[in-house]
Amino acid sequence: MKVMIDGKKYDAEYGEYILNVARRNAVNIPALCHSDALPGQGNCRMCIVEIVDKGRKSIVASCAYPITGEIEIVTNSERIYRIRKTIVRLLSASAPDNEYINRLRKEYDIPPETRFKVDRDGKCILCGLCVRACDEIGVSAISTVNRGTTKRVSTPFDEPSTVCIGCGACAYICPTGTIEVNEDEGRRVIWNKTFELLKCSECGEYFITREQYEYIKKRYDLADTNELLCDKCKKKGIGDKLTNVLHNVIPVQK
Ligand code: SF4
Ligand code: FES
Repeated sequence: MKVMIDGKKYDAEYGEYILNVARRNAVNIPALCHSDALPGQGNCRMCIVEIVDKGRKSIVASCAYPITGEIEIVTNSERIYRIRKTIVRLLSASAPDNEYINRLRKEYDIPPETRFKVDRDGKCILCGLCVRACDEIGVSAISTVNRGTTKRVSTPFDEPSTVCIGCGACAYICPTGTIEVNEDEGRRVIWNKTFELLKCSECGEYFITREQYEYIKKRYDLADTNELLCDKCKKKGIGDKLTNVLHNVIPVQK
């Protein structure tokens, strides 16, 4: 189906989010809490656009609005600019050390917020992606705690979590680089817990925590193995197998 974005027509799949269609066609919509891995979050509201859908005008979060018909979308009207400016102001008060938001703050000519201070990492926008990623993995080691200016993401009672497997998915998905992961000499430290790292049998690089390995084995009912392969070597293995198959079909010229 066709959608109209800022006066131009683009192809869209049924159910596709507006933000995805815009990005595919290099239409810039600022977005902070969107992740392709966990779409539909709709928390930061930076990605708002104006739409006319089935004759009705509204303002929606483009990362969480699925296209189900031929709609008209405006990404940068006067009204959108005003609302986005207020959102940037609020976000910058809530995450004053966030570089991306600071850039937007300057772009929208907003002075730095000095009236109140938040009691959490100044980069976190409380988008909830880290908590959602941990839940999706089935671990649920972190959650949001407290309220108002002290609201933040943490493990229960800020103690090293008994269930955390140290996979680092939370840090990987965090759009603001808030979650610290430190790795050194076969150890990974995250959320105040230290994990032993295991090496890839092929390239010898540390790549997975023992707890993560045990978790995957149990979850997918895998047998014990002496061979642990990192993603790079797994791909290389597939590449080598494909090369062998091709060499059998098309003998290599010597
Ligand atoms: S730590 Fe990162 S992913 Fe988690 S809520 Fe804060 S900004 Fe979002
Ligand atoms: S990117 Fe859409 S609400 Fe945050």
